[in-house]
Formats: sequence, C-alpha cells, structure tokens
Amino acid sequence: MILVTGGAGYIGSHTCVELIESGYDVLVLDNLSNSSRESLHRVERLTGHKVSFVEGDVRNGDILNVLFDTHDIDAVIHFAGLKAVGESCECPIFYYENNIECTLKLVQAMQDHNVKNLVFSSSATVYGDPQKLPLTEDMPLSATNPYGRSKLIIEEMLRDLPRADELTHSDNPWSVALLRYFNPVGAHKSGQIGEDPNGIPNNLMPFISQTAIGKRDCLSVFGGDYNTCDGTGVRDYIHVVDLAKGHVKAVQRLLSEQGLDGVQAFNLGTGHGISVLEMVNAFKDCNHVDVPYQISDRRPGDVAACYADVSRAQTELGWKAELGLADMVKDSWRWQSRNPEGYRVIG
Ligand code: NAD
Ligand code: UD1
Repeated sequence: MILVTGGAGYIGSHTCVELIESGYDVLVLDNLSNSSRESLHRVERLTGHKVSFVEGDVRNGDILNVLFDTHDIDAVIHFAGLKAVGESCECPIFYYENNIECTLKLVQAMQDHNVKNLVFSSSATVYGDPQKLPLTEDMPLSATNPYGRSKLIIEEMLRDLPRADELTHSDNPWSVALLRYFNPVGAHKSGQIGEDPNGIPNNLMPFISQTAIGKRDCLSVFGGDYNTCDGTGVRDYIHVVDLAKGHVKAVQRLLSEQGLDGVQAFNLGTGHGISVLEMVNAFKDCNHVDVPYQISDRRPGDVAACYADVSRAQTELGWKAELGLADMVKDSWRWQSRNPEGYRVIG
C-alpha cells in the first residue's frame, strides 16, 4: 500500500489514479485545507476502486502512528504542503511551520515504523534564478521566496537521513526520490479531475482557462520584453498525467530489487520551453475560444526562461513525458468547461 499525503489535491488526485491503475492500493491523508473530498470520490468513480481516506493533518504524529500501525505501507508519496509563492512571502512562518513540520513528523513516523521509501514533491523553484539552461539536477540551488526555501530546507533535511544510516549501519537504509516538478498543467482526459484554485489564480494555465470561460476579463501577460523568442516568459509546462506517471515510476524504482541509493533528485518536465504567448495561442487554436490578453509589466521575481534537462529521469526511472502542448490546453479546457465552479458543483 502507498500512503499519499496531500492526495486529495491537484497532483495528488491524478497520482492516485495512476497508482491505482498500476495495481497499487492507496491510502490518502489530507486535511482538505486546499482541496475537497469530491476529488477522491471522482478518483474512485474513474478507477472503479476504493481510495482509503483519512481527513487529518500530517503534522499530527498520533494520526501518522495509527496509520502506520494499522496499514501495510510500503512507500510514501509526500505531496502535502502549501504552495502559493505570494502567500509564503506574506506568511513565512505559516509556510515553514506547515511544510517543514509535515515532513519532520512524517519521516519520524516512517523511521519509527521502519518504512524508509519516500517520494517528495519538490519544485524547479529550488534552482532559483537559473544561470544556465537546460537545468540539470546538479546545478547550484537557491531560493527566492519562503515557499522555495521550505522546499530547499526539506531537500537538505532529507539528505541527512541516509548519512545517519551509514553511521548507524542501518540494515534498511532510506531511499528518497526528490521529484522537482517544472510547471504542472492540464487535467485528466475524462474532465473529471483537475486543478481547482481558490480565488484569483496565480498561475498561468488556470488564469487562461478562467478568462476563456468569462470568469476573468483579460489575462495580463507579465512582461513582453524578455530576451526570449517573443519577449514573453518561457517555462517547461508538463501535463499533470505525465507527472503523475513519473511518481508511479519513482515508487516502482524504490520498491524494485535495485532500489534507489540514498537521496536522488529528478527533474520532471518535458525539456522544452514554451512562451506565454505560445501557450495562449495554442489554447485559443485548439479549443476554438477567445482569450483576451494585454501585455503588462513584468511580475517581480519572475525569470525570463526556465526548462529542464530530463535525461536523468529517463535513464534512471525509465520515465519521459508523452503528452504535448495540444493535450495540455485541451485537457485544461475540458476540465474548466465541464466544471466551471471546480469541485463545488457535483457533476
Ligand atoms: P494542492 O494544494 O492541490 O495539494 C496539496 C494538498 O496537501 C492539498 O490537498 C492540501 O489540502 C494538503 N495539505 C496541505 N497541508 C497539509 C497538512 N498539513 N496536512 C495534510 N494535508 C495537507 O497542490 P498541488 O499542486 O497538488 O501540489 C502538491 C505538492 O507539489 C505540493 O507540495 C507543492 O508544493 C508541490 N509542487 C506543486 C507545483 C504546482 O505547480 N502545482 C509545482 C512544484 C511543486
Ligand atoms: C510559479 C512559482 C513557482 C512554482 C510554479 C509551479 C512564482 C514566482 N513561481 O512558477 O515557485 O513552482 O509556479 O506552480 O510564482 N504569467 C502571466 N500571467 C499570469 C500568470 C503567469 O503572464 O497571469 C506568466 C509568468 O510571468 C510566467 C509564466 O506565465 O512567465 C508561468 O507563470 P506561473 O504559472 O505563475 O508559473 P511560474 O512563475 O513559472
């Protein structure tokens, strides 16, 4: 059985589908602070399998102990965390407290129960302001905001676990995959599960979808004077279903005979950069909808371009993104148009 913390959220719910379809039993622990129970009902309908769900906080060690005592858990995928960059700048203590304490309590419970296979949701944000592209996993790391710093601190914390195993000659050493996501977008092709942001979206794709459906008047394109193909920011967008499959590959590797040695980081992206205008135009063309936009000032903290070298994930995990830009924009629109209020309307 795989314990999935934060499994009711955007990436977690898609990963539950892929895990179940790969034959794993799934146990979700989520406090529903940024998600709803409905996402998992839909995962159950999509897969025809039950998802064991516990509503609770990962910071609660007692809940974790009960879960490990009562279930046969082979590995943990740790999605639970807060992820809004702007909010993290306003409430850094809240972010450090939630993201770091969740991970500390989780690894303590794992160690106490001798379950030492972990997949951690990291982010391309740990590369800070990239000096060279594409980004490889061994490039220098830094953080430009408390959210990113929480990921960086957790990565460093996790690196200490196998070091301790060496000192204590552990016969069951830690195996940890740090998955550094680039820009997850899209939704399950059924249109049943997808991203359901609270309030005004910060990220590009949900803002485009909400503009296309008329919830927002106009997309602001943040900066038209970057040194990129068309002057707008370039990112490595990755379809959330590809990303979810990357987690299954990581779990399979952790549980394989070969295992995974210590802590290893993997970029999960496509390896291709796409500009804001390329994304907007693909969305319009593939979905036959209008997306009014205007070029506005650069957003503070944004970098011109960011994309991954994905060869390590391919070599080590046997994983490669398969879905392209057309799938990303079509699946995002299917989700948005069928669920204009997200999970708030049962459909
Ligand atoms: P999400 O907010 O949809 O999912 C996170 C889930 O964790 C939510 O269901 C939330 O209710 C839960 N949660 C938060 N704190 C919790 C706690 N203390 N106890 C129990 N549950 C808790 O976000 P997502 O987009 O699915 O992201 C999942 C993970 O991936 C996060 O750690 C995020 O930082 C990381 N990540 C996301 C992106 C992205 O663009 N979506 C990019 C890079 C990394
Ligand atoms: C953001 C986070 C990053 C996180 C990532 C994935 C910031 C500074 N960084 O990355 O930590 O890991 O999301 O969730 O928030 N854009 C517009 N108009 C909009 C929104 C975005 O033009 O309304 C542009 C941005 O300037 C950027 C691109 O679209 O060029 C992507 O932006 P976004 O989706 O917010 O992701 P990132 O900034 O790459």
